[in-house]
Amino acid sequence: METMYPWFKALHIIAVISWMAGLLYLPRLFINHVGLAPGSEASTMLKGMESRLMRFIMRPAAVATFLLGGALVSTPGIVDWSMGWIWLKLAFVLGLGASHGYMEKCIKAFANDANTKPARFYRILNEVPTLLMIGIVILVVAKPF
Ligand code: HEM
Repeated sequence: METMYPWFKALHIIAVISWMAGLLYLPRLFINHVGLAPGSEASTMLKGMESRLMRFIMRPAAVATFLLGGALVSTPGIVDWSMGWIWLKLAFVLGLGASHGYMEKCIKAFANDANTKPARFYRILNEVPTLLMIGIVILVVAKPF
């Protein structure tokens, strides 16, 4: 496990970057999707983009992030569980997971032409993973408490 640790960490960061790309880009697609006529060429194109981003990038990257994060915390001597940063990091990661789950619901709503939320709502939704990601990176790198 110890010899594999740097490889798990490198793959963890790659998975995190891929997941974040989707969490930050998908709400931008929703913003563009709001108000488009159901069945229009643009709406159909966005439905395809949203669904492919979720299926081919976000879901696999989220699973890889969790599995590799699990491998890192299971490596002996890596995490001191008496420190606060790891617990807050895990709480923020749960927040990212909740944002992901909510975006799954939004994709379904758009796919059924049943979205009721305004573009402003998706602009705010865009900020949630941004703020969580900033918090997580500061916590894992600076380990301030
Ligand atoms: C189940 C989810 C996760 C677990 C269990 C987990 C766990 C870990 C652990 C134990 C480390 C090594 C910390 C150390 O070097 O002392 C690590 C590194 C890292 N994690 Fe996570 N992580 C998870 C999700 C995430 C997410 C969602 C992000 C970013 C949005 C993230 C960003 C990072 C970064 C940037 C590093 C490298 C830190 C460094 O080497 O200084 N992790 N993770």
